[in-house]
Amino acid sequence: MVQPRVIGAEHIQDAYQRGRIVFEVFSDDIVTDLAFETAARLGIRLTDGPLEKPAVVKTDGAKALMRGLYRSSSRWVNPHKNSPRRQIQRFSKLALVGTGGVGANIAHLAAMQNMADEIMLIDIVPGIAAAIAMDLNHASGITRTSTRCFGSEELVQVAGADVIVVSAGIARRPGMTRADLIDVNKRVIHVTAEAIRTSAPDAIVIVVTNPLDEMTLEMLKVTQFPRERVLGMAGTLDSSRFRNSLANAAGVFPADVEAMTIGSHGDEMTPIPSLARIKGMPLERFLTEVQIEACVKDAVTGGGQVVALKKSGSATVAPAHGVVEMLDHIRGARVGPVPATVMLLGEYGVHDIVLGVPAHLGKSGLVEVEELNITATERHNLHAAAEAVRKRLE
Ligand code: LAC
Repeated sequence: MVQPRVIGAEHIQDAYQRGRIVFEVFSDDIVTDLAFETAARLGIRLTDGPLEKPAVVKTDGAKALMRGLYRSSSRWVNPHKNSPRRQIQRFSKLALVGTGGVGANIAHLAAMQNMADEIMLIDIVPGIAAAIAMDLNHASGITRTSTRCFGSEELVQVAGADVIVVSAGIARRPGMTRADLIDVNKRVIHVTAEAIRTSAPDAIVIVVTNPLDEMTLEMLKVTQFPRERVLGMAGTLDSSRFRNSLANAAGVFPADVEAMTIGSHGDEMTPIPSLARIKGMPLERFLTEVQIEACVKDAVTGGGQVVALKKSGSATVAPAHGVVEMLDHIRGARVGPVPATVMLLGEYGVHDIVLGVPAHLGKSGLVEVEELNITATERHNLHAAAEAVRKRLE
């Protein structure tokens, strides 16, 4: 004799978790009180079964043959193919040298994303890194992040980091250009790079300190790391500013805008309007030439506008997001070309100078520079940026 089924709360719970709104009950089933209560609570209707089953889709030989032929054509992409899921790396240690506004915001964003087992904040100002680390850990009771933050005044604490982000140095004051910071920040980068070379010889370094292109080159020279592992952050930030300007001008959401800014992180920044798209369409469908020019200018001067308003210090939140976007590409959470400042070895016709270009990043840093089909004018601007950086270094 067939045993009657006993429907308990766990069966209802299971149906609920599988997204069911109806539960089929047969005449012999025994339904517990708790099952009734659970069904009422979860909004699941108990219905007398058996329910009518949907008819099997009918087909014929001709349709089956057509499907078969279509599937064997090269255009067929199996939607259920067992493609390996993208591997997203979790950093075991992320080190941040410099815990001003940029460093602190990177730590906050990275901890919120559970990006690393450990974030080591390092700053020479006594107590500041430890204070920020403690503050971030205090929030973990609410955010429930498993990333733990630590603070130190010692550069040797970069040891063991997968990625080191360097934002140490002084920021601009109103009226200063990024290039005005070159002498003092070069010393900061020099000391930091020495420590990285000896204590973290396998790390990937992301430089944020200004003037960005020059400081990235300095980092490269002192660490003697391969170009794959010394990157500068500027293009992600400048592209975000450009997209924001375009979105404002066109009256659309920033998510509707695709645009990239390459070149130097200075006056010779090179936004690329020719490849920018609003809702997938060229900018000219939404904006006049004058408006596009204004957006380019707004992107180029964006950092300076923040400095002018703040009076002391520069932007912090958008630069931190710029770094996090690069970290996401390194750990495999995002794919595709992303602007990064790297040493160019002939790409875009530029040799031996550090400049922002679209790049593919991965767990060992730079994978490849992507050569976009930019206009002659944009290419000219990129070369002008390379020459300007070269000149400043002389
Ligand atoms: C800026 C600084 C970080 O562009 O260079 O805001």
